[in-house]
Amino acid sequence: MARIPDAVIDEIREKVNIVDIVGQYVQLKKAGKNYSGLCPFHNEKTPSFSVAEDKQFYHCFGCGRGGNVFSFLQEIDGISFPEAVAKVADFEQIPLAAEYREVSGPAENSETRQLIALHEKAQELYHHMLMNTAIGEAALAYLHERGLDDETIAEFGIGFAPNQRQFLEQVFQNEGFDSELYEASGLFLKRDDGSFADRFYQRIMFPIRDPQGKTIAFSGRFFKTEAFPGEDQPKYLNSPETLLFNKRMVLFNFDKARGTIRKESTVFLFEGFMDVIAAWRAGVKNGIASMGTSLTQQQVNAMERLATTVVICYDGDNAGIEATQRGIALLKENSRLKIDIARLPEGLDPDEYVQKYGGEAFAQLAEHGRETVFSFQLDYYRSKFNLANENDQLLYVETMLKELTQVDSLIQQDHYLTQLATEFHLQRETLQQQLATLKQQARHLQKTPDRAYEVPYEAPPEHAPKVAPITTRPLTQGEKAEQQLLYRLFNEPRLLYQLEQAQVHFLHEDYEEIYRLFKEYYEQKGEFEVAGFVDYLDNPEIQNKVITIVTLNLPQESTEKEIQVLLRVFEKTRLADKINEKVILQQEAGRIKNTQLELELAIEIINLRKQLKQTDIF
Ligand code: UTP
Ligand code: MN
Repeated sequence: MARIPDAVIDEIREKVNIVDIVGQYVQLKKAGKNYSGLCPFHNEKTPSFSVAEDKQFYHCFGCGRGGNVFSFLQEIDGISFPEAVAKVADFEQIPLAAEYREVSGPAENSETRQLIALHEKAQELYHHMLMNTAIGEAALAYLHERGLDDETIAEFGIGFAPNQRQFLEQVFQNEGFDSELYEASGLFLKRDDGSFADRFYQRIMFPIRDPQGKTIAFSGRFFKTEAFPGEDQPKYLNSPETLLFNKRMVLFNFDKARGTIRKESTVFLFEGFMDVIAAWRAGVKNGIASMGTSLTQQQVNAMERLATTVVICYDGDNAGIEATQRGIALLKENSRLKIDIARLPEGLDPDEYVQKYGGEAFAQLAEHGRETVFSFQLDYYRSKFNLANENDQLLYVETMLKELTQVDSLIQQDHYLTQLATEFHLQRETLQQQLATLKQQARHLQKTPDRAYEVPYEAPPEHAPKVAPITTRPLTQGEKAEQQLLYRLFNEPRLLYQLEQAQVHFLHEDYEEIYRLFKEYYEQKGEFEVAGFVDYLDNPEIQNKVITIVTLNLPQESTEKEIQVLLRVFEKTRLADKINEKVILQQEAGRIKNTQLELELAIEIINLRKQLKQTDIF
């Protein structure tokens, strides 16, 4: 399929009214200059979904989703961008050449399409080998023994790659596939003499599918036999990165899990494919796994678009517990998802748990046996300190109090305070005071350094119901300022001149990138229009951020003072971050009794604080 030219995309977007398209899915009522209705992306009883006709944008104040007409269709129909463009074109009866459509016509021959065909064929073959041949017999028996019935094996399209290096190639040649595709497919290794050898052999093959359910890669689990012990073989071998497969984007089982994730607003995160499959068999159908790597921002975004809660269900062994701790930090940092932990006993992984205790027990644990992040961390840090030692006890309590500042529920805070006080024979009031102090410190780090200036940030418009967003990570003052400045720039592109004069640098990479893309886009088009800008961006992470910014509610026009204040917030945030860094180092130096270093750091901190104070004078 040919890439749809920007001019065509622009034309289609400009002709359609987003209200008409969204109106096909959502009952909209006019409220002021906008339309509102029940959000189709999350369950709600009072409408927090709003469509701005003037901006040609939609936004939900409940779940935070938003975008233009194309992103709406992509999200609600689960279709690709070109498909969404075609759909709008058809709706508006704007002719769109066949070459821009995904199905039929010359599209058939695009490289992507051929590579998918290759993968689908390979999947079919591997599956056939497993189910119907003597070569696959032992592997099939092994899978049965691990509790996978034929239905599950078929559902996941699992197969077997025989111990033969010329297997796929022979079949592909008979099928008339173009051998030029072999290299690009990642299914082969190219030998020095130019011939091809199968990458996967003697492996149980798990197809990796894209969100549309098409096979785009494989992960092969080595199948050990007496004849082929394969000591040097990695346990799992994945396809390399190809045109189809970017392991940073893909989540195993996302296509099948999607419906349940959305329905239950919950996604289960597992370590291994076998765990996802075992959970599926146990009726937990909203499970996914990354490709043996830690989660990326793109993957987190994909989860966040469908769910409000993520349940981490990693292996119960030490490695799994450490991975859980890392996962919590990553998800806290990069998402607004509520995090629960489903911890497995006896060092088991989910698959082993199902084997040992049955699917029913697993489903119970997944539903009712979850714990909060804090409860998990009570145990996690316990193992990091030597609690027989009084000093360690205090450090442990302090660590937990710090974590407790992040617990929103007062009832939970109360509960855990009592628990800590009782266990360590401490005065509950003392702990409470210390918690209050820590909370204040935490708040202080986020607070605007300039209190005279109240940032008029995200006040919901009158028609928006007073529902609290499901879980919103409070933005730091620095990030608020970054968003606000970009908002101003989007609405008043002429500000660019001033920002360039001031040689502005944003605090976070993402916002700096948006700034760069803004300049690029603005230079190319000579004007700025948000709906077009969103299409111009190809990184979904960045797209999301832009959408958040666009849907801020700020007063009509910027003022000179506002821009000055925002720029100063940047400067202050940089200093404050630096001070924090040094303070932590200083504390550490004190702890290890390095007096010299402690002193040096103290002086640096004093100087930085002085600088910070000076930014107030203007
Ligand atoms: P595990 O070793 O926990 O796999 O690795 P598992 O699912 O329990 O497999 P079984 O039960 O032994 O059959 C978890 C995940 O880590 C990645 C894979 O994605 C796997 O699903 N992994 C593991 C690799 O990529 N390479 C390896 O060599 C091992
Ligand atoms: Mn396992």
